[in-house]
Amino acid sequence: MLTVTDLHAGYGKVEVLKGISFSVPKGQLVTLIGSNGAGKTTTMRAISGIVKPTGGRIELAGENIAGIDCHHIARRGIAHSPEGRRVFASLSVTDNLRLGAFPRLTGHRAKGDVSADMERVFEMFPRLRERAFQYAGTLSGGEQQMLAMGRALMLEPEVLLLDEPSMGLAPRLVAEVFATIGNLKAASITMLLVEQFAAAALEVADYAYVMENGSIRHEGPAQQLKNNAAVRAAYLGGGH
Ligand SMILES: Nc1ncnc2c1ncn2[C@@H]1O[C@H](COP(=O)(O)OP(=O)(O)O)[C@@H](O)[C@H]1O
Ligand SMILES: [Mg+2]
Repeated sequence: MLTVTDLHAGYGKVEVLKGISFSVPKGQLVTLIGSNGAGKTTTMRAISGIVKPTGGRIELAGENIAGIDCHHIARRGIAHSPEGRRVFASLSVTDNLRLGAFPRLTGHRAKGDVSADMERVFEMFPRLRERAFQYAGTLSGGEQQMLAMGRALMLEPEVLLLDEPSMGLAPRLVAEVFATIGNLKAASITMLLVEQFAAAALEVADYAYVMENGSIRHEGPAQQLKNNAAVRAAYLGGGH
């Protein structure tokens, strides 16, 4: 579904991604793990067009989308739930969700049934229903994260990019976020997940890539990487 080949990207003259290659097959959950500053968020931004790649290819269903404007990339079905759960604070929960469906409402993507999909998001996150008409800025951190994920889902995405969905959340909410990711996986949604909780990400993912200093260092089926001694030592708390 999504194939990244020799991707280079950075900020100004600083190259962050030094030619990375990976793929996210249709219906699968692929995770990208690695320490802080490895370039995971930059990878997500390059895929969704927020950062312009300086080289390489990003193919969505066989078509190269590298360098295309981010609005056009969204229309092609890449939904990005960004790091730091950015929501539109001065809009209601419902309006944030509607904005997620914007390319469907403007005819740039298949319209489908937007209200049925909103209902599905409310079923997935009952707390958002209770707060449907509240300003998003007044939600708790956990609720804003749910809204960021719900808004991304409202695109009816071909690929869902989730950047650190559990960041800054209390342990109980982290468990909820991972349960939701499990539900999305069961619904065959194609996902690329970046997570600080590498062990939990490897538990839920099909396949994993380990990133270090802007390059891919290891890759393999998630269960296999979980048992890889080097990966355990570096990313999973020394094998505990
Ligand atoms: N907006 C930016 N401008 C300049 N450098 C940045 C910017 N965002 C990130 N970087 C740098 O890019 C590198 C990779 O960052 P990032 O992709 O956020 O890593 P990760 O998500 O893996 O923690 C870091 O060295 C970081 O300082
Ligand atoms: Mg990051």
